[in-house]
Amino acid sequence: MPKLSNTVEEALNHQINQEMSGAYNYLAMASFFEGQNLSGFAKWMHRQRAEELDHAMRLFRYLIDRGGQIDLAAVEKPRIDYKSVREVFDTALAYEQNNTKLINDLYALALNENDYATQSHLQWFVDEQVEEEKIVQDVLGLLDVAGDNNSALLVLNRQLAEQEDSGGA
Ligand SMILES: [Fe+2]
Ligand SMILES: [Fe+2]
Repeated sequence: MPKLSNTVEEALNHQINQEMSGAYNYLAMASFFEGQNLSGFAKWMHRQRAEELDHAMRLFRYLIDRGGQIDLAAVEKPRIDYKSVREVFDTALAYEQNNTKLINDLYALALNENDYATQSHLQWFVDEQVEEEKIVQDVLGLLDVAGDNNSALLVLNRQLAEQEDSGGA
């Protein structure tokens, strides 16, 4: 197995930071919902927080397995105050869309460096991002239906609380 190139190593380290920052963002979103007594929405956010942490760990493990050097950077302070439920999910969608772009860029870099093992590892992330964007879009669609109706919002809150982990995968 050829040695990991410095460029790919650096990019993977950067993506670890990005996933950690995603986890931190979802944690902040969970805390917002906990404060609003919307425990179902909070639970949904905690599931996402755990997933982002898992993504960071997958990259961490891969870097180690390839004999790479881990370089952990500071995680940016997340935004913690939001005006509405919708604004939180709009922000989550923007985050996921940006992350998809970063994963694609990373894949393109591995392709350019003829790093087949990294391409193969990143394939899982490419597929995962399709799912990640979709599940946020699904909640946004339900928020559209609920509109300004608080009862509908509470029904959705309960529905999200009951969603299995596989539903948020
Ligand atoms: Fe992620
Ligand atoms: Fe994600």
